[in-house]
Amino acid sequence: MKELGARREELDPIEYASRDEIEALQLDRLKWSLHHAYQNVPFYKARFDAAGVHPGDLTSLKDLARFPFTMKSDLRDHYPFGLFAVPRSQIRRIHASSGTTGRATVVGYTAQDCENFADLVARSLRAAGVRPGDMVHNAYGYGLFTGGLGAHHGIERLGATVIPMSGGQTTKQVTLINDFQPQAITVTPSYILNILEEFHSQGLDPRASSLQVGIFGAEPWTNAMRAEIEQAFDMHAVDIYGLSEIMGPGVANECVETKDGLHIWEDHFYPEIISPETGEPVADGARGELVFTTLTKEGMPMIRYRTRDLTQLMPGTARSMRRMAKITGRSDDMMILRGVNVFPTQIEEQLVAMDGLAPHFQIELFHQDRRDAMRVHVEATPECADEASRQTLAIALERRIKDSVGLSTEVHVDLPGQVARSQGKAVRVIDRRKA
Ligand code: DLL
Repeated sequence: MKELGARREELDPIEYASRDEIEALQLDRLKWSLHHAYQNVPFYKARFDAAGVHPGDLTSLKDLARFPFTMKSDLRDHYPFGLFAVPRSQIRRIHASSGTTGRATVVGYTAQDCENFADLVARSLRAAGVRPGDMVHNAYGYGLFTGGLGAHHGIERLGATVIPMSGGQTTKQVTLINDFQPQAITVTPSYILNILEEFHSQGLDPRASSLQVGIFGAEPWTNAMRAEIEQAFDMHAVDIYGLSEIMGPGVANECVETKDGLHIWEDHFYPEIISPETGEPVADGARGELVFTTLTKEGMPMIRYRTRDLTQLMPGTARSMRRMAKITGRSDDMMILRGVNVFPTQIEEQLVAMDGLAPHFQIELFHQDRRDAMRVHVEATPECADEASRQTLAIALERRIKDSVGLSTEVHVDLPGQVARSQGKAVRVIDRRKA
């Protein structure tokens, strides 16, 4: 793999500033953001008043813990534009995410918010090793989803060439990668596996492709999957994190030289980790639910937004800003079976480590004898697709899941091509218990 990484003089000065400088900037911006939200969004005024706090009460960063949380349901309750802090005419762009239940959550950006969004995606791509003048194949979906357009503007801002491919049309994805020779690709980790398969079907060697780095996010993926993708394409695989409510992609990003978790762009987003059960801040470095407060957002400030994403905060390494550990899952994708908590990433970790299995999978939850049960659908690779090999693989994976997660599951090793393919974010769990 080609050695990648930015030189210090190419970074924004805040990326290597001291912690004192970062915290001083955060405190100034946090005061502004709380006032902005309180004065311009009736929802925040009512919430703060009810909790007996006023933006003027914040004199240090830790005072933020006195302020109330904001939840996804608050966005839904104020659908579509009720949380905007500026007149609608000053909103330059709208994005929305549909989610699995209920109304879409709608977010709005002012012209300055769009500028910051592009700057932070450019910073993220630079951390991933993309350089001005490179070509980036953007396979995140365009449209209301923040992935496509978010990555697009960041690629341009960095001074790279964007191929606005969007998701889907997998055959064409491979043709264009082969013909245009991009250095980088932005895509979900599950969809790159679909693209990988298409390379093989077209008789092309993915390791011989021009790609040097992939910037993968929008869904959880494991270090085992990273190893698989890096090996398959002979390229770096770097993690990008974000969410529409806070901005979109580029809230945090891994540095290609360390790949040790994602640096949070703390000059724009203030992170906290809380216990999902009690809502109290956890001890430094402990795992819990990630909460963000926006520091510069004009259009739709978010104060203590509960992401439901589970991670932990760690000190900076390649940059001064703190890192978050790779996300293992969301509190709402956690499956509880017979009292055991399990995330789809735990299953992914086990199957990706096995020879003979393709990295595609789906989990089905159902009731059996009035108890919850889990069936894991995976696929054999073409070399191991005979009946006997598939049975051996199924038993081996059942054992691995039992040993690592502590759950008895039923594994079905299907023929190649049987597990539903992702076109963007993968659907990992099909819950038939509610049906
Ligand atoms: O997925 C924004 C995005 C686009 C991020 C492209 C990265 C790349 P939403 O559709 O609002 O926004 O979904 C946000 O996706 O709360 C996480 O649960 C999950 N997620 C996003 N990035 C990662 C990641 C975009 N790197 C939700 N690892 C978040 C794990 C991720 N989960």
